[in-house]
Amino acid sequence: MDVKGLNYACTTCHVTKAHKISGRYYSRPAPGRHQLALPADDGERLACESCHSRSPHKKSAILNHHTDKVACQSCHIPRYARGGVYTKMWWDWSSAGKFTKDGKAIVKKDKNGKLAYHSKKGDMRWDANVVPEYFWYNGSMSYLHEGDRIPPHEGPLQLNSLQGNYNDPGARVFPFKVMRGKQPYDPVERMLVVPYLFGKKGTGAYWADYDWKKAAAVGMREAGLPFSGKVSFVETEMFWPITHMVAPKEDSLGCAECHRRNNGRLEHLTGFYLPGRDRWQLLDTLGWVLSGLTVLIILLHAGMRLVSSARRKDADTQGEVDHEK
Ligand code: HEC
Ligand code: HEC
Ligand code: HEC
Ligand code: HEC
Repeated sequence: MDVKGLNYACTTCHVTKAHKISGRYYSRPAPGRHQLALPADDGERLACESCHSRSPHKKSAILNHHTDKVACQSCHIPRYARGGVYTKMWWDWSSAGKFTKDGKAIVKKDKNGKLAYHSKKGDMRWDANVVPEYFWYNGSMSYLHEGDRIPPHEGPLQLNSLQGNYNDPGARVFPFKVMRGKQPYDPVERMLVVPYLFGKKGTGAYWADYDWKKAAAVGMREAGLPFSGKVSFVETEMFWPITHMVAPKEDSLGCAECHRRNNGRLEHLTGFYLPGRDRWQLLDTLGWVLSGLTVLIILLHAGMRLVSSARRKDADTQGEVDHEK
């Protein structure tokens, strides 16, 4: 989009037809059944492939070979929040409501001048040049809605969960920002609460009375949802697909960023064989047997050459002697 580059407007890619904007991630997967949607061809779909096709690399067949399993964005957006901006990564509401001894609001900034704590909002963390997290994704996700019971979960509660895995032909490795934090919920009804935040003192508004129970009671009543009177905090995470901020081609991901034994970007993606990262016992054993055989053959070959060259030397010396004679 850079004015020094192609200078695209949003709508060059997001073509519209009667208020329908293409590339609506959350309602419909972009590379739908056609895979090669063209802008303006279908009001709902947009993908990098719309302009570039699935074989955009002229020089490298191996890169084109990846596009069925690895999304363009995974290699072409090596980091997000680039160019001097910060993005919020963590927001802990449970630590809100602390004040100085004389009742003043506490405001702390981090070394980059970004808000690190505020009495109204709790603790937060910001980051720049962030390495995305990668997951299998087929373009569909399911959401936890207002009023849904919190399902049993291990680890943080997922506010949205991604669909797709290695065996799903529509799924590819896709980069995400994962927004993490802690949010208030009702441990008895097992429901995230809708707190009443903004209002006058005495109305129960959290930003005036600083009482989560009162704020939740008002909020849940307004939302028409049950509330037990108890508030706890649960750690949550939300997955945001990354598709803008494509870097210049020189900055695309190098092979070893994914294909290496340790600390590769796809380290935690399991269920498939990734050359360079994984060890497959049979393949490894076979490899060693083959290497062993190769060494043996080389040795044998070298041995034979030594013998034959020694013979030739003998013959040569013989020849020279003859010649001198
Ligand atoms: C080079 C093409 C291109 C340009 C220019 C572009 N986008 Fe996008 N955008 C995409 C693609 C591709 C997607 C992913 C769509 C999908 O898979 O459904 C996307 C997704 C989105 C989404 C969906 C939400 C999300 O983050 O996933 C929004 C909103 C959006 N773009 C807004 C904008 C705005 C606003 C602009 C201009 C400032 C813009 N886009 C410019 C290609 C582009
Ligand atoms: C509206 C059409 C359009 C869409 C959609 C689009 N591109 Fe492009 N892109 C272009 C054109 C045109 C060029 C310049 C010619 C070229 O290099 O192929 C370009 C250039 C590029 C380059 C080379 C940049 C450089 O440094 O020379 C990369 C990489 C790239 N696009 C990746 C993507 C990715 C990834 C997406 C999806 C997020 C995307 N494009 C979506 C039209 C598009
Ligand atoms: C496995 C990583 C990977 C994937 C997946 C990938 N690319 Fe690339 N791409 C690269 C690398 C690396 C380069 C730089 C090659 C060079 O020019 O040296 C590149 C270069 C490009 C270029 C510049 C033209 C060229 O031939 O050098 C465009 C345009 C492009 N990619 C678009 C895309 C699109 C669109 C997709 C998805 C259909 C995609 N790429 C998928 C790694 C990838
Ligand atoms: C974003 C991570 C990523 C990057 C970067 C990447 N690869 Fe891969 N590569 C994968 C994944 C995932 C697979 C597994 C695909 C499958 O099983 O179908 C794979 C598979 C392969 C394979 C196995 C054969 C095949 O094509 O299925 C080879 C060889 C390979 N990559 C070489 C490369 C080379 C060379 C580069 C650099 C030019 C590269 N890869 C860059 C993720 C990556």
